[in-house]
Amino acid sequence: MFKKGQTLHSIIDGASHSSCDLLPVYNPADGCLLANVTQINIDDADSAVEVASKCFEQLKTTTAQARSTVLYRWYQLIMDNQSRLAELVTLEQGKPIQESNAEVVYAAGYVRWFAQQAERAYGMVIPPHTPNHQITSNKQGVGIVLGITPWNFPLAMITRKVAPAYAAGCSFILKPSELTPISAIELAKLALQAGMERGAFQVLVSDKPQALVEHLNNKPAIRKLTFTGSTRVGKLLYAQCADTMKRASLELGGNAPFIVFESANIESAIDGLMIAKFRNAGQTCIAANRVFVHRDIRAKFVAQLIRRVESLKVGAGLGADFDIGPLINETAKLKAKQLVVDAIERGAKYITQGSDVQQEGPFMSPIILGSVTPDMNIYHHEIFAPVVTLIDFDSEFQVMAMANELHAGLAAYFYSTCQKQIARMSKGLDFAMIGINEGAISNPAAPFGGMKESGLGREGGAEGIEEYLETKYFCQRI
Ligand code: SIN
Repeated sequence: MFKKGQTLHSIIDGASHSSCDLLPVYNPADGCLLANVTQINIDDADSAVEVASKCFEQLKTTTAQARSTVLYRWYQLIMDNQSRLAELVTLEQGKPIQESNAEVVYAAGYVRWFAQQAERAYGMVIPPHTPNHQITSNKQGVGIVLGITPWNFPLAMITRKVAPAYAAGCSFILKPSELTPISAIELAKLALQAGMERGAFQVLVSDKPQALVEHLNNKPAIRKLTFTGSTRVGKLLYAQCADTMKRASLELGGNAPFIVFESANIESAIDGLMIAKFRNAGQTCIAANRVFVHRDIRAKFVAQLIRRVESLKVGAGLGADFDIGPLINETAKLKAKQLVVDAIERGAKYITQGSDVQQEGPFMSPIILGSVTPDMNIYHHEIFAPVVTLIDFDSEFQVMAMANELHAGLAAYFYSTCQKQIARMSKGLDFAMIGINEGAISNPAAPFGGMKESGLGREGGAEGIEEYLETKYFCQRI
């Protein structure tokens, strides 16, 4: 049971790691101390790799069915602890409690999905090139995995990496965000309770992530890196992987276009935008970043949007009925404000500035900006805050080109009722995940990931486990 102010521990070899080096973790809403977490040093990291290495050998002797059973138990324990975990996520990360509850279900969903997929890692019997040969292939866990996860979904970003890795028979070393390590530790404790081997999921907490990750990423024993975070850091990590030829899956930054065509059902487009923009106060990689609205329906769309946005309630509180929590910290708020100021200076117009937020802290009430253009920084950067940027367009050709013109290729959304247009847009958008008349696209059964500079590999779906599997081919003379 988590109690405010207590000391929590990094987890090495299934045990609490004791150390005098403590990382304080604060509630972003009020700045109060939630817990102190023991930090690891480089020697501890080396021990974790040794443990993970032994565990990987041990996992080779387990069956997919046995690992699947452990994952099912982990899923059930996460769900049994839903309200406790949700409360923790709200305290540690700031999102409103109903969103935290949804995150627990989302996170558990990955565990359940990969409990099923564990038993589907099929090999092949391949037609031989001579009558004297038998050719087969199978799939085996790739080895020790290093995972680096962000603060915006402190549970789900972990389960969607650890669950497929374990399903595939890999041992996992996690470096969670130093802003949200508590959720990671609680997840690992539940995994141990579910029967996961002691070295299968270790949690290394450190406020010197760069040095720690570089040290681990250079180790030949670690065979795979999985990272969710910014494109800038993703590129650095990917370059580090080259030396030891590590596999990498990288889920990086997005800059999602959200396109509303003239034939769209406006109410449903606004429902979709409220999710795609305001989930987690806009702090998601798949958040609608550039909202393109056809000029013919702009006035109607904006009038309805203002009503919906102005009804959003901003604030912290576990029991209270808030729609938007605090941003993760003051730096995040400052960055978002700077993007807004730059846009206004370059000609954007406030459509709504939101009402004043009374509370102290990194709260930001929602803003709608009109007349946004490509010469503004806000068009090019992930906003990660509750700011809607409206861009007018006149033709499908024009909006397709604008949607595709940036380096990001994570998520895109469009609303249209014209079937031919839906087919053309689905084919033409250079994005790996596309919401068609839908603003909520995250789902454990679907392949999550990015094209272009938004990353490599997919998480979830049938593809998710493949990232953790090595194919071996056998050529037998008979
Ligand atoms: C992210 O922001 O990276 C993840 C969002 C999601 O899984 O829905």
